[in-house]
Amino acid sequence: MKSIVILISGRGSNMASLLDAVASGALPVRVAAVLSNRAEAKGLETAAARGVPTRVLDHQRFADRAAFDAAMAEAIDEFSPDLVVLAGFMRILSDGFVQRYAGRLVNIHPSLLPSFPGLHTHRRALEEGVRVHGCTVHFVTPALDHGPIILQAAVPVLDGDDEATLAARVLTQEHQVYPLAVRWFAEDRLRLSNGRVEFAVAQDDSGVLIAPRARRPH
Ligand code: GAR
Repeated sequence: MKSIVILISGRGSNMASLLDAVASGALPVRVAAVLSNRAEAKGLETAAARGVPTRVLDHQRFADRAAFDAAMAEAIDEFSPDLVVLAGFMRILSDGFVQRYAGRLVNIHPSLLPSFPGLHTHRRALEEGVRVHGCTVHFVTPALDHGPIILQAAVPVLDGDDEATLAARVLTQEHQVYPLAVRWFAEDRLRLSNGRVEFAVAQDDSGVLIAPRARRPH
């Protein structure tokens, strides 16, 4: 069975969704450890309560990004994971770090990339007036919130949405797609080819997603 290490910085709800999927048998991986760059990350308590080893490497204690990334890589490599899973890990990673884990480093981002890389994705989506928003699981490359896309989930932006309601709608989907993407990796149903992801997964060809969509024809 493949093993993963999960990196978090905060709440850890995506991490919890991965642990839930492992516990229910839906995700056939071993979670070797959860690492955080912040000692106060809530997700650390969740992981520890479920018996997953945790480590904190406070980025403020390192002289620079390269020193932090080297220490983080050393901590990760102690667990020899097949896959490193960024789950709300809010640090920009150096090129060296990303290259070290090329093809085995994935991230989830709360937008339909390549729209809205970076922070405040839900606020920016509302400001732009997009009608479809969502989340993306992707392999990590040195460019921020960029890399071969594995899986996306789209949600409508509804009249009356604010940042919180839209974030909640997207987060529900994040919790569905991240365990699925990691499962496909674990089952060798994904591979990188010329910078794109190829699948051995049945695809949904049921049609287009349209938002807003009238419930009934007028
Ligand atoms: C999630 O919405 C995740 O997509 C986002 O941070 C949140 C973490 O929540 N990640 C990024 O913005 C990365 N660029 P969580 O700690 O509850 O999983």
